[in-house]
Order: sequence, then structure tokens, then C-alpha cells
Amino acid sequence: MLKPNKLANNNFLSSLDLSPDEVLHVLELAKHFKNKKISIDLNNKVLGLIFDKSSTRTRVSFQVAMSRLGGTTIDLDPTTSQIGRGEPIKDTARVLSRYCDVIAIRTFDHSDLEEYAKWSTKPVINALTDLEHPCQALADFLTIHEEFLDLKDVILTFIGDGNNVANSLILCGALLGVEVRIACPKGYEPNPLVIKKAYEIYKNKNLLKITNDPISAVHGANVLYTDVWSSMGEENQKEEKDKDFIGFTIDHNLVGNADKEAIVLHCLPAYRAKEITDEVIDSKRSRIFEQAENRMHAQQALLSCLLS
Ligand code: CP
Ligand code: NVA
Repeated sequence: MLKPNKLANNNFLSSLDLSPDEVLHVLELAKHFKNKKISIDLNNKVLGLIFDKSSTRTRVSFQVAMSRLGGTTIDLDPTTSQIGRGEPIKDTARVLSRYCDVIAIRTFDHSDLEEYAKWSTKPVINALTDLEHPCQALADFLTIHEEFLDLKDVILTFIGDGNNVANSLILCGALLGVEVRIACPKGYEPNPLVIKKAYEIYKNKNLLKITNDPISAVHGANVLYTDVWSSMGEENQKEEKDKDFIGFTIDHNLVGNADKEAIVLHCLPAYRAKEITDEVIDSKRSRIFEQAENRMHAQQALLSCLLS
């Protein structure tokens, strides 16, 4: 029977904290959890959650994943804990790691997440930073793997802002050998260090393409993916970004230019009629709600590996 393997890294801060084999192992385990072929009892282990930004999917999927594994969660609200008062991260991390067995953190600066990991004696998980959303990428590739058995045959086109979600898709895609295309307006390209790292992993520059032309980017694509144009923390840029992203909506026309069996993903929450139309989100091509469900299965797999 498949069992969770211990991971080489203690933390999951970036998609790059897993090796290609470890990503495949987590995806396989996630499928086992989803199909009820495996049951793990973590014996009341405790996951601490810190959300400096709002969350529905990540918060609830971690809570349910932990409860399905026989553990519990503590959701620390920054406004009612001392986190919001500005207690130093190094103090919070050292205290929480004496109570909790693992900590998942959603915050702004990736360096703050790294500071938590530096001082925590327990595994730290990235529940989204401005740089990456690696738990999302695991669920995304689980969803893609359910449709396409050989990931190396897949062309994934992300249309939108090259930030956290796109960065993790690029890195996880590179580990899995998936062709990843990013179509974004000029000035919204993914992080250059992420692009450089992905090229090093692929050893073939043709497998990652960054373009400003959505129509050519979706040609032959098997998966179309988008995310909000204005991320959490960018609320004051909304008006400007809405203008800059005109032409980058996943609509019926864009889907029509992709492979005829292409599926559509969105990490959610969506601004319907901005980055994606109602028609596409609710169409038979959409796997968006399977993808949201898969957050829970992927995180069950990740937690069981980190705590094994
Ligand atoms: N996709 C995602 O992380 O959703 P939440 O912001 O609701 O957690
Ligand atoms: N890019 C989005 C993702 C939300 C899950 C944000 O950071 O708000």
C-alpha cells in the first residue's frame, strides 16, 4: 500500500521545496486520499493557521484536511492575537512551534514567511505570499493529471497577472516537465528569478514561453488558466489594472483558439466578467470546482508527508 514518504525539506515555502519525484509522490497520495484508498491517523497533531490576508478555500481545505487526518487546527486571527500588534515573527514562531506540529501561513512578503520558517522548529507551509502559492499549484497539477495521464504532453497556458499563482505554476510545471506559457500585458511578467530558475530546471528554453499575446499563447493548449487581475493588497491598483488587462479575458473566443478538448482552471475567487466570463466558468470545459476540491486532497497528502 502507498505510504507517505518523508520529504527532504522540512518546510514547503516554494514549489521548489519538492523534487520532481516528491511532487509526483504527493499527487499520487492525493489521488489515494481522494479515492479513499488510504487512511492516515496523525494522532491529534495540531496545525496552526495564520492568515494575514482573507481566505476561504485555503483555510477551509486545510481545516478539513487536518480533521480527516485525525488532527486539529487552530486558526489564529491576527487582529485578536498578538500578531496584529506586531509581535516579532521570531518570537511568535518560537512560541507557536512549541504548541503546534506544523504551521501554515498566508502573508504579504515572502521574506516574512522565510523568517517564520527560520525560527520555527516545526514545518512551515506557504498558504500564499506575494511571491508564490505552491499549495495551489499542487492542486492544479492534481486536477490536470486527472485529465491528462502524461504530464509531459500537456501545454498549460496561464493568461493574466504574472504573480504568485503564475510563479508557482511555472516552477511546479518545470519540475513536472509541463510546457508552460504565460500571456500577460507588458509590465506584468512573472518574477525574473522564477523564470531563470525554471529555465535551469527545464534545460530547454522552449518549454517556458512568456508572451504578451493571449491568442497565440492558447494555440494548441490543453489547459487554460487564469487568476484575478488585482490580487489581495493591490485593491488601489484595480482601476489601472482593469484597463491594462483588456484583451486578457478567458472567454468563449479564446477557448475556441485552444485545443478542442482543452480544460479551463481558475484558482478562485474569480471576478466574473473580468478575467473570465460566466459562460466559461460554468461551461463543460471548466474544472474549476474540481480544482477547488483538490486543494483538500493535495494538502492532506502534503501534511501526511511533512508529518510522517
Ligand atoms: N485559491 C485560494 O487560495 O483561495 P482562497 O483565497 O479562498 O484561500
Ligand atoms: N493572486 C491572487 C490569488 C488568490 C488565491 C491573490 O494573491 O490575491
